[in-house]
Amino acid sequence: MKELFEKIINEGTVLKEDVLKVDSFLTHQIDPELMSLIGKKFADKYRDKNITKIVTIESSGIAPAVFIGLELGVPVIFARKQKSLTMTTELLTASVYSFTKQTTNQISISTKFLTSNDNVLVVDDFLANGQAALGLVELCGQAGASVEAINIVIEKAFQNGRSLLEEKGYIVDSLARITSLEDNKVHFLEE
Ligand code: G4P
Repeated sequence: MKELFEKIINEGTVLKEDVLKVDSFLTHQIDPELMSLIGKKFADKYRDKNITKIVTIESSGIAPAVFIGLELGVPVIFARKQKSLTMTTELLTASVYSFTKQTTNQISISTKFLTSNDNVLVVDDFLANGQAALGLVELCGQAGASVEAINIVIEKAFQNGRSLLEEKGYIVDSLARITSLEDNKVHFLEE
């Protein structure tokens, strides 16, 4: 997606050879115009797929997810990493280990928002090792919901997230695939 590539090149910073900082438009400050384009781009691909819910994880997955949900006219659920005070109903839960942060989060979604009638688009900002996406599809599985595809804004194609998810039969659809961050430069997989 041209607009996203340009934004990454103009505003992204390579922090380490495996970490890209994009806090001016995605992970801290959010560019609503770009998010709106991202929403349209994904929604156009899935309009005829009978999507009923968008499922993401807090915090940086929420912005792109909301714009996809807006375009498709369906609700957006974000898995919580910490139990909210008001989460008094039954919960779907999964453990997500972050290789980057070396921490494990219990993620959860209330059973009342996700059911076996749902056909879901899973959305996240980054795909690295795939652990967050795996946790989200596990929650969908617990609810008996089907997963149409996993939509990712920025995929680090040099990490193993995609292969892990594809091995399990999921469709991974990302807008920018980065093959390396070597020499402080972002290298994209040509589309
Ligand atoms: P994984 O889910 O694909 O296995 O990813 P990993 O554990 O490696 O990543 C943990 C967190 O770091 C995730 O955010 C992920 O979105 C983010 N992340 C991974 N690689 C990059 C990167 O190159 N740049 C940036 N900016 N973020 C990256 P999180 O901590 O779960 O949540 P949040 O930041 O959305 O709150």
